[in-house]
Amino acid sequence: MVYPVIWRNNSVSLIDQTRLPNEYTVVEIHRSEDMAQAITTMIVRGAPAIGVAAAYGMYLGAREIETSDSEALLQADRHEFLTKLETVANLLRSTRPTAVNLFWAIGRMMQTAYETVGTVAEIQQALLATAQKINAEDLQTCQAIGDHGLAALPKSPDKLIILTHCNAGALATAGYGTALGVVRSAWKEGRLARVYADETRPRLQGAKLTAWECVQEGIPVTVITDNMAAHCMKQGLIDAVVVGADRIAANGDAANKIGTYSLAIVAKAHNIPFFVAAPLSTVDFQLTDGSQIPIEERHPAEIYQIGETILTPPGVEFYNPAFDVTPADLITAIITENGAFPPGDLLKAKEK
Ligand code: MRU
Repeated sequence: MVYPVIWRNNSVSLIDQTRLPNEYTVVEIHRSEDMAQAITTMIVRGAPAIGVAAAYGMYLGAREIETSDSEALLQADRHEFLTKLETVANLLRSTRPTAVNLFWAIGRMMQTAYETVGTVAEIQQALLATAQKINAEDLQTCQAIGDHGLAALPKSPDKLIILTHCNAGALATAGYGTALGVVRSAWKEGRLARVYADETRPRLQGAKLTAWECVQEGIPVTVITDNMAAHCMKQGLIDAVVVGADRIAANGDAANKIGTYSLAIVAKAHNIPFFVAAPLSTVDFQLTDGSQIPIEERHPAEIYQIGETILTPPGVEFYNPAFDVTPADLITAIITENGAFPPGDLLKAKEK
């Protein structure tokens, strides 16, 4: 099993996802600033994984804060500590805007800091414990998503071909994955024939990461370019689409990697079920609909450059939104750790 974020030897080990599949490298992160940088540069990426990474980043930041405190945490020291911790939180919040898991995890860490009564050392310990809890919970959540997803998949054919977009796998979570969690559970139960992985321009998470994960586990995988999905559906090659999400509004509109929206439209046109698999920590109940979800724009070099090669002539303009929003009415069900729900029933999922 792949674990992209691991707490060991007093630091955080991250699998460097910018180097896969050609190189498997682990980066040791000791400081909150380095964690912020790792999230921005996508050494660690995927909504739940950046939540877990940011939680550890908060602990690293808490560890860096020096106060005069020794035995008891005096009121003034406590205030100073929390103010400095807010600065760490803001740095981590500024890394990537779309995935709400980042803000959710940082919020949980701040809550721990505010609610823990004791010395600085005790608050720091409580923060490490919360980060480890967020990590462990996400792993369990993904396994539950996988199992609920398996139950929600079409009953025929016996062995399904599932198309996915981007990487919502173990690499994008604490482990096991959301969309790929469903794939893994289907594979274990003998319900999966093959995965079709969209390459996912511009950063190629499908071609590089999803394909790598499948190969690690012997899951048959076919990589296609994004513009081939409709053709594959028309040819009857796809039985279901399962994708992850970065932020889901209360009405079920779901933001995910750019290209997900067009995939949902073509799935609908071919009468193919379209599932979004995500933990409830990805649902932002404060947003009534998807138009309120902030969409990250990334550097145009992701479009115009591959390695050292420049693809476009001078004088061209670029637009590089990293995510799009799939309207709820194109989604068959949202698969959470509490079960699969119609997109309009997310509150029921939360209350279950
Ligand atoms: O830009 P990325 O690679 O962080 O985008 C990742 C995705 O869009 C995933 O599908 C999403 O975060 C869900 S991961 C379980």
